[in-house]
Amino acid sequence: MATEKKKSRKGKKAVTAAPDIRKGLVGVVADETAVSLVVPEERMLTYRGYAVHELAAKCSFEEVAYLLLTGELPTRSQLAAFKRKERARRDITRGHVGVIKQFPKTAHPMDTIRTAVSYLGTTEEAWGGEPEAKDMDRAINMLAKIPTMIATDFRFRQGKPRIRPKPDLSFSENFFHMCFGKVPPEEVVRAFDISLTCYAEHSFNASTFTGRVIASTRSDIYSAVTGAIGALKGPLHGGANEAVMQMLEEINTPGRAERWLRNRLAKKQLVMGFGHRVYRWGDSRVPIMSACLQGLSDYAGDDNWIRISEILEGIMVGEKNIYPNLDFPSGPAYYLMGFPINLYTPIFVASRITGWAAHYLEQNANNMLIRPITAYNGKKVRRVKPMSKR
Ligand code: COA
Repeated sequence: MATEKKKSRKGKKAVTAAPDIRKGLVGVVADETAVSLVVPEERMLTYRGYAVHELAAKCSFEEVAYLLLTGELPTRSQLAAFKRKERARRDITRGHVGVIKQFPKTAHPMDTIRTAVSYLGTTEEAWGGEPEAKDMDRAINMLAKIPTMIATDFRFRQGKPRIRPKPDLSFSENFFHMCFGKVPPEEVVRAFDISLTCYAEHSFNASTFTGRVIASTRSDIYSAVTGAIGALKGPLHGGANEAVMQMLEEINTPGRAERWLRNRLAKKQLVMGFGHRVYRWGDSRVPIMSACLQGLSDYAGDDNWIRISEILEGIMVGEKNIYPNLDFPSGPAYYLMGFPINLYTPIFVASRITGWAAHYLEQNANNMLIRPITAYNGKKVRRVKPMSKR
């Protein structure tokens, strides 16, 4: 960042010219990563070198989680061992269940999952081995237990007993089982699994960067993930998938969509689920998730949300040149899967734990404290007056 000394008009005092501030860190290359690559001009996203649309089509979320955490796709035996570990760690302790039971039922599920993950960090199991192996174990521990915490809280909110995880179900099947006590047909489970793959990782987004800042202080992985969840909650980031569905519910019918949108744009208000800091010509994950949404709409016999979405997209792209992001199709997709709106961002957490953990490990392997500087625009140095003279 260039600062230059200039002479004042009187030529007496040297002052510092305005530094090159990149508000929002726009365009700043903060570090290197081997976890994922976003190529906006090609509308492409890769995890460890594999295109996400190919991973979504050919792999399960468990394979994608393994890939993000270790750098390679698993062999059959590696996947079996990984699944065994994840499935064995799904359940949470009675103490943990008791903590979740105490949460106010009015709290947002993002606040409860943030607190439940933080609590997990206080009940660390004694794993041996090198620090990196321990962190990998902690990452798998969170991957396994986060869905259980979300589902437990979801059940208690409705005054229902919790449903314990089943080790013979896949990651996605088990989540439906713990929430609803049954597993839906294969196409619904597959759409959910694909959504998890799409949400798993996205380079230096706000929550991942938060996690890396925390990791850079040499703090623990639970603290990094707790902080990342706090960042993800915001409606400009992960919270957008909930805001999209609230918007669609407010519009309610396709006949109201155009007027609603034009009114909103006239007031210069944001339309949720559109725009992206990195993708300017469309989000690479949207076609994958839109296909899932189409399948779910056909399955449910409910095309209302797709019809509203098409009207919004047509105007936003055609007239404003602002494209939908992943949250735009995933919001109504989760709705059609039967989840309440306030569970959408916690589901994002259940997936993004893989990307956050991969970045935590990467930051630790080549760490430097992240500590930018600021341009001060406050009061000049001044003297403290005694209380009687203020
Ligand atoms: N609705 C309406 N206008 C939008 C918009 C949206 N969703 N997203 C961007 N714009 C407008 C901005 O207001 C701005 O207009 P201006 O030049 O007249 O001020 C212009 O498009 C450029 O946007 P910019 O502010 O440079 O985008 P950004 O990189 O700062 O912000 C987001 C990116 C994601 C924060 C922003 O698009 C947004 O808030 N989207 C809605 C929330 C959302 O869906 N978040 C999920 C992201 S994955």
